[in-house]
Amino acid sequence: MTESNFFSKSYSKEIPDGKITWQSPSNIALVKYWGKKKNQIPENPSISFTLDACRTTTTLEFNRLSSPGNDFSFEIYLDDEIKEDFKPKIKTFFQRIEAYLPFLKDYHFTIRTSNSFPHSSGIASSASGMSALALCLMSIEKELINSDVALSAVERSMDENYFNQKASFLSRLGSGSACRSIEGDLIVWGKHDKIIGSSDLFGVKFPDKVHDDFKNFHDTILLVDKGEKQVSSTVGHNLMYGHPYADDRFKQANDNLAKLSEILQNGDLKGFIEIVESEALTLHAMMMTSLPYFILMKPNTLEIINKIWAFRKETGLNVCFTLDAGANVHVLYPDKESDTIYEFIKSELVAYCQNGHYICDRIGFGAKRLM
Ligand code: DP6
Repeated sequence: MTESNFFSKSYSKEIPDGKITWQSPSNIALVKYWGKKKNQIPENPSISFTLDACRTTTTLEFNRLSSPGNDFSFEIYLDDEIKEDFKPKIKTFFQRIEAYLPFLKDYHFTIRTSNSFPHSSGIASSASGMSALALCLMSIEKELINSDVALSAVERSMDENYFNQKASFLSRLGSGSACRSIEGDLIVWGKHDKIIGSSDLFGVKFPDKVHDDFKNFHDTILLVDKGEKQVSSTVGHNLMYGHPYADDRFKQANDNLAKLSEILQNGDLKGFIEIVESEALTLHAMMMTSLPYFILMKPNTLEIINKIWAFRKETGLNVCFTLDAGANVHVLYPDKESDTIYEFIKSELVAYCQNGHYICDRIGFGAKRLM
């Protein structure tokens, strides 16, 4: 597959207007994407659990313009409030995907979006938000192609696999990690020798049989710091240019993905914990050793990590943590041990959350079209 597979034919049928709604989840990386090349190509492959409860719902209304404009015509609302400050990011997204969706300048778009998690929770909405928007746009493309009588019956039908691949491909151009939010429950993004079908261009389902212990995994997200991100992902990825450890880090991520691929199949929970925690700490180590340097953990992040380690030593239960590029902690644990671990979280960890806030999430199975 190359980029050229995702170019569209021109559409002969004009759809005057319509409305589409998709709900798309967030995801949490186990092997982290940190560092990218031109055109949103990752420096290393990553793998994530698709989440379930943390979602964005986006409704896209489209109205055909009487004459196509020179620029994109759209407005965006978050929870019914117009968001001028979201426009530059969406405009950049439209510019990047225009070559693949030639109808973009033919319509005025009204984008209405809302998140299941609070806006100021420190949880990034770019993965769920960009994937929800990409899916809405794909549904328009599908309608345009389906109703195009100039195309043959085969050309008119767009199969689900192609739809999902192109939705992931477009999402990636909005935000890299968003390409891992289309499907579930484990998604690989980035070419890796050991992962059949893997690609730098879009996310694919982890192709091998996953051990039962890794099904229905839980992710309780402890909201340690609900402020705006201290380092935007664009700035963060740029820190890897000229980073003294960059090459070794990219190699390590490749090796970790190879090991994790085995572990996911053989059910080695201890091996899982080692890789996932090491990946989280390495991500933060990269930020601490770049120029400029950042410390994104807060004192309570460390308190939580130490409590998890002490609890694990004491009980032998398979609870571990991962981190995003921020202070919040994702506590990961298998379903079969969830009762005891959840009690531990409530009694020992929630005290370190800002205003006691946390989100109970678990592995999910991807985006859904609602309308
Ligand atoms: C630390 O996907 O937000 O969450 O491509 O610039 O939008 P952009 O970056 P983004 O980076 C996510 C980084 C991460 C790790 C991960 O999700 O793999």
